[in-house]
Amino acid sequence: MGKLRLTIYLFAHDKYVIFPPILVVGAGERNKMYRWEDPRWIDAMRITLDFNNMMVHSIGEGHGLTDQDINALEDTAKDIHNELMERRKKGELQFYELPYQEEMALRIKEYTENMKTRFENLVILGIGGSALGGKALHRALNHPYYNLLSKRERGGYPRIFFKDNIDPDWFGGLFDVLDLKKTAFHVISKSGETSETMSQFLIICEKLRHVFGEKGYKDHIVVTTDPQKGALREIIKREDYLDFPIPRAIGGRFSVLTPVGLLPAAACGIDIHEILAGARYMDQRCNIPTLWENPAYMNGALQYLSYTKNKTISVMMPYSAHLKDVANWFCQIWAESLGKKYAIDGARVHVGPTPVKALGVTDQHSQLQLYIEGPFDKVITFLVVRNHPREVPIPKLYSDIKDISHLGNHSLNQLFCAEGIATELALTKNERSNCSIILAEINPFTIGQLLFLFEVQTVFTGWLFRINPLDQPGVEDGKKLTYGLMGRSGFEHKRKEAEEGLLKKQKRYMV
Ligand code: PA5
Repeated sequence: MGKLRLTIYLFAHDKYVIFPPILVVGAGERNKMYRWEDPRWIDAMRITLDFNNMMVHSIGEGHGLTDQDINALEDTAKDIHNELMERRKKGELQFYELPYQEEMALRIKEYTENMKTRFENLVILGIGGSALGGKALHRALNHPYYNLLSKRERGGYPRIFFKDNIDPDWFGGLFDVLDLKKTAFHVISKSGETSETMSQFLIICEKLRHVFGEKGYKDHIVVTTDPQKGALREIIKREDYLDFPIPRAIGGRFSVLTPVGLLPAAACGIDIHEILAGARYMDQRCNIPTLWENPAYMNGALQYLSYTKNKTISVMMPYSAHLKDVANWFCQIWAESLGKKYAIDGARVHVGPTPVKALGVTDQHSQLQLYIEGPFDKVITFLVVRNHPREVPIPKLYSDIKDISHLGNHSLNQLFCAEGIATELALTKNERSNCSIILAEINPFTIGQLLFLFEVQTVFTGWLFRINPLDQPGVEDGKKLTYGLMGRSGFEHKRKEAEEGLLKKQKRYMV
């Protein structure tokens, strides 16, 4: 049987695939030229957005969008762009400037290179926006079994563990397997007071003090928090821990390009300068007011238009196990930024698309039936990777058994690609809105682009909904109730509120 030609990925309607202008970055006065300074390499690595299958010509009038729908938002997009750029100039949207923080990256790199001789393990203590970015970078860019590699295979870098949960057995069990003498802890909390992270911090402090005494224990701790405020900042002042702050105006879910994401990434040898270069490239692409030329604005507009047409669920479905935690990270930024009770003008709106994560091919055997035949309330975004770093051939065995004989002499790569195409076609045939964000390959440059694309897309979409995408009053209320229940002084009213809430539960029980 001839080889399947699955490398052709059809672009029948080029108009709906955004190809950006090329940014040329000069090599400066350095002798070394990085690959991300080569315009041809940049060109090959640019992310594309294929939204044909959200449009009328692919999925029909009942569910598809039209060019007119998009064009009707052009003026609004220009106004939003002007407002965002105005706020950016005033320093109100500092996440835009993070890709340019090369000095911070150099300082991180210096510290993490020094870790190599001292530590076998790095444990990240943080939750939500203080964990998801680092996890996404680690899973995307490291070997899939990184922690199981030998130290030499890891390039001398420590193993990495993200402890973003306080399940007592899951957290406590860590100390059964790690040698504290060879372990460093990166404590991350923007507010410096989140109960989960701070409890973990207190636990490790005591354990480390017990082993290394009052002086020696500090070498095992590095902290990332607000540069001025919060309990953790107060502790840093007292104890003089090593400290990589998060810029003031950056909220948790926009912090992946600060030490929150970059320190754990550099600690495993990931090229954080290339991540920043990818983000800068995407910043250039997103600095254009026209929807048809700006992938973040276009994708935000498409998601917004879909929401207004009752497609209120955004499914993020990577066809790459490496990108599973990027989908997780996306779900947080999309949910926490856009799910809001009040509009900017104070009107009660209760808006926000519900993000759902799914993984190709795994969830073809779990969720896909619902996506294809259930309610027309979803937009599915595929994250497509053209070239996987490894080719795994499928041997030709049992060729006399007809039901499996076709698999031999292909590769897992071909099967993976065929299943992605089949899923896209099945959805489209059933008039299900879907689009693809396409990466030539997974590397720090493409991941930097992807994360920055989603950040700009989220802020832009927030403005389309006329809500504030940068706050999270709902999350904060939950935190305050926890403080009340745990007896924090100043939160007695929250304890009362929690107790009254619990009382209401006492009427309906089945035992
Ligand atoms: O994005 C957010 O704001 C939240 O998810 C926070 O990151 C999370 O609650 C942890 O907060 P902190 O970093 O203050 O400990």
